[in-house]
Amino acid sequence: MQQCWRARTLLLLASVLSALSTSLQSFENSGIVRTIDLGGSLVHVTTTYAVRALDDKADTYSIAVAKEELVKTSWIEIKVKGQPKPLTVSYGGGLENGAHLLNIALPKPLAANGTVNIVVETVQTHATRPWPERAAQDESQSLKYEYQLFVLSPYKTVVQRTKLKSTNPSIISYTTPENVQDFTLENPVAKSGATVTYGPYRNIPESFTVDFTSKYQQTIAINYAYDFPVIEVTKLTRGVEISHWAANLNVQDEVVLHNAGPELKGHFSRLQHQTQAYFSRAVAHVLSSFTLHLPAGIRNAYYHDLIGNVSTSHLRTAPSPRKLGSQATQSQYSVLELKPRYPLMGGWNYTYTLGWDSPLEDSAKYDVTSGRHTVEVPVMTEIPGAVIEDAEVKIILPEGAIDVEYAVPYPAVSSEVTTHITYLDTVGRPAIVFKYQNLTNRHVKSIYVSYKVPLSAHLRKPAAVATVLLGLFGFSLIVRRIDLTIHKKRA
Ligand SMILES: *[C@@H]1O[C@H](CO)[C@@H](O)[C@H](O)[C@H]1NC(C)=O
Ligand SMILES: *[C@@H]1O[C@H](CO)[C@@H](O)[C@H](O)[C@H]1NC(C)=O
Ligand SMILES: *[C@@H]1O[C@H](CO)[C@@H](O)[C@H](O)[C@H]1NC(C)=O
Ligand SMILES: *[C@@H]1O[C@H](CO)[C@@H](O)[C@H](O)[C@H]1NC(C)=O
Repeated sequence: MQQCWRARTLLLLASVLSALSTSLQSFENSGIVRTIDLGGSLVHVTTTYAVRALDDKADTYSIAVAKEELVKTSWIEIKVKGQPKPLTVSYGGGLENGAHLLNIALPKPLAANGTVNIVVETVQTHATRPWPERAAQDESQSLKYEYQLFVLSPYKTVVQRTKLKSTNPSIISYTTPENVQDFTLENPVAKSGATVTYGPYRNIPESFTVDFTSKYQQTIAINYAYDFPVIEVTKLTRGVEISHWAANLNVQDEVVLHNAGPELKGHFSRLQHQTQAYFSRAVAHVLSSFTLHLPAGIRNAYYHDLIGNVSTSHLRTAPSPRKLGSQATQSQYSVLELKPRYPLMGGWNYTYTLGWDSPLEDSAKYDVTSGRHTVEVPVMTEIPGAVIEDAEVKIILPEGAIDVEYAVPYPAVSSEVTTHITYLDTVGRPAIVFKYQNLTNRHVKSIYVSYKVPLSAHLRKPAAVATVLLGLFGFSLIVRRIDLTIHKKRA
């Protein structure tokens, strides 16, 4: 299972464990390089620590995360550079300056002077805002991002730098740091193309102390042009229904989209929009369409909004993985180009429903020895570049399912087991509801649900259907008898 920390969990823990619970081992950072990919709703940050052990048997390396960063962090994963397996991370306590320590278990202890490169990857959400806050329909879009100049660490650092990478070389402004002459005699910041680099800063002492942060830490702001719409899903409600009876998995998403780009200044002109689109000069802060990757083998896809069916979208379905060889199927998906009914301007919302069926056998397995069914249910479908602020995933199991177990890819904000009752159900179906917040592209993973369906439950549905049919049949018999009687009398 993926090693994952959510900001809220950490803050929660912080209130319980306020003191440092471990004594720190001795390391030195030969170098720290942080790369920030300036995005819209999502900002990806990769920090690489080149670490040297100062003592033998060093097996726990600690990093410090500033509180300003922690509240924005929705995903964190820590690995040894070049290795696929995430490292085990435990909470190391809150610090006086509001930062938090995370303890990382190294795969094997280092001897003195032993080195390792540790890569910390995070995804930040709600980290940018439109700046200026309003833009006319034909104006470009720019965003503001803020971060803390120094990467905090409990160890001395030989050299440290931060690169901010934009997709557009048009960087409107960026802060020049103050009071950094202790660490560099050169220009403290440099811009080259679409990248702004802070540092190199040399010989930085242990930076996790209040002394250091109060003297040197500072907020850096950067204002950059951004060429893509800033999309937030304010609410995703995913309903997943498992039916053994119909051998079907139905997935339905209700999505509330919000364009978090600059608010539209003045009125929206469809003519201007169409002219811009015609000359391929569609502006960055207008969302006209986006592409979704849906599973292979889906059928009966539907897409409607509050007004009705939306017919302007294109779906190209890939064949069901079962129908192909088992190789080359992983990368297969159906492609939906989804067009909202109207172009979505900054500050506007759009609500739609998207659903599809797929063969249950594509995502379910039955284990004969344990008698358990296991079904894989994706938490979400990625909307490129978007954050999902609030998600609710409801998985409805077959009627009579018992011994329900589940495994989540990362902890949910909440989960509960309820009962869902529909037509032709006699006892209702067990349902599990998961709630999540601030989902990103790194959260595109699956929940596994496992359960047993006793034979009696398998028979219950046919029995319910049979009762209805028998009722109808019995009724028609009576009708015919009456009918016959009438005929008889006439005859
Ligand atoms: C999600 O982000 C919002 C806004 O930044 C924040 O208030 C909320 O606590 C976050 N939720 C979780 C579970 O991290
Ligand atoms: C570690 O490296 C330093 C300098 O390169 C050297 O002086 C020291 O002896 C080394 N320590 C060990 C235990 O090898
Ligand atoms: C919407 O489309 C579905 C199938 O594509 C169809 O069954 C339904 O009647 C349509 N509804 C309206 C209001 O057009
Ligand atoms: C969009 O939805 C948000 C709440 O999710 C609301 O505050 C805002 O006013 C809505 N915008 C419009 C233009 O309706």
